[in-house]
Amino acid sequence: MSSPLRELLANLECRGRLGFGLVDGGHAELEAIAAKFAPAPAVKAQMPIDTTQYASLEDIRSHMGQCNKCPLHRGRTNIVFGQGPDNAKVMFIGEAPGAQEDKQGLPFVGPAGHLLDRMLQAVGLHRSQVYITNIVKCRPPGNRDPEAAEAAACRPYLDAQVKALEPEVICTLGRPAAQAVLNSTAPISAMRGNWQQAWGLPLLPTFHPAYLLRSPQHKAAAYQDLKALVRKLNI
Ligand code: URA
Repeated sequence: MSSPLRELLANLECRGRLGFGLVDGGHAELEAIAAKFAPAPAVKAQMPIDTTQYASLEDIRSHMGQCNKCPLHRGRTNIVFGQGPDNAKVMFIGEAPGAQEDKQGLPFVGPAGHLLDRMLQAVGLHRSQVYITNIVKCRPPGNRDPEAAEAAACRPYLDAQVKALEPEVICTLGRPAAQAVLNSTAPISAMRGNWQQAWGLPLLPTFHPAYLLRSPQHKAAAYQDLKALVRKLNI
């Protein structure tokens, strides 16, 4: 027992014996003391998102609040939830926010994002027409790949985003996004350009724009992938 508590109890006992100062046999005071020394309540568990509900993107973001489901929340400046119209036909899924994204709270706004904008333009799309998000919504330290547990903790948000948006096609950008979404260990070179299914929707993995900045010789392949993505759309 802590010594302030011991002192208070001794004081109460003494006052009780002397027969004054204790209203209600001392219960009210004892309860007040107990409340003061009770351990702090545990952090309220987060309600899982009911992904069977077609919640709006806005609902999902507000449900997320200041999410602390994985350790990435400790180093973030902003949650990077996603950006784009809620009737977008194309959804891009990258891996994780970088420094610029963390600062601005928006996906793909750094150098990789600028290349993504140019790639979209090259196939007749504009960023304002597509929805862009990531498999994790908080920046990993030093821009490392998200860990499996971090991607798993964030997955209900991604599942709910896909259900809310119901895009016609999905495109994953880079290896970590394709592997996490498709639950695969295949290398990106084997996955890119090959249509898959996820959430019951057609999904095309392609290279990450950050990788293309380092390896521009693969830009032509990524261009072919985006052209295939546009051909799949009902436009
Ligand atoms: N890289 C990603 O995978 N996502 C972003 O939002 C930015 C860079």
